[in-house]
Amino acid sequence: MEKTSDVIWQDTQHQVLFELLDQVAEEGSAVEILGRLKYYAENHFALEEEYMLQLDYPGRDAHVRAHDRFREELAEISMDASTHDAVARQIISTFLREWLTRHIFTIDKELEAFLLASDAH
Ligand SMILES: [Fe+2]
Ligand SMILES: [Fe+2]
Repeated sequence: MEKTSDVIWQDTQHQVLFELLDQVAEEGSAVEILGRLKYYAENHFALEEEYMLQLDYPGRDAHVRAHDRFREELAEISMDASTHDAVARQIISTFLREWLTRHIFTIDKELEAFLLASDAH
């Protein structure tokens, strides 16, 4: 049964990363995963950032900086993914696991609590 205490759009969008973590085990998937990640980052981060702006979220600057670091690291990984699939998939896997711990389970959770309290979700 679905929990009712989540911000649904945020939770649903975060699920994409778990799918990509599964997919990264497939040989030759690095380029496609990086494409999906880029699309994910553009859309998902834009939505979180829009909510933070509209609601004048106190942790906004640090949160946006964290998103920007993700964007930068993603661009770096993307550079030679097509020639080094295995290496790129290893890096993506580590990168996504760290992101889950450092961001989704921590500062995104704080934002989620704020959105739920604000009734704006
Ligand atoms: Fe975030
Ligand atoms: Fe997020």
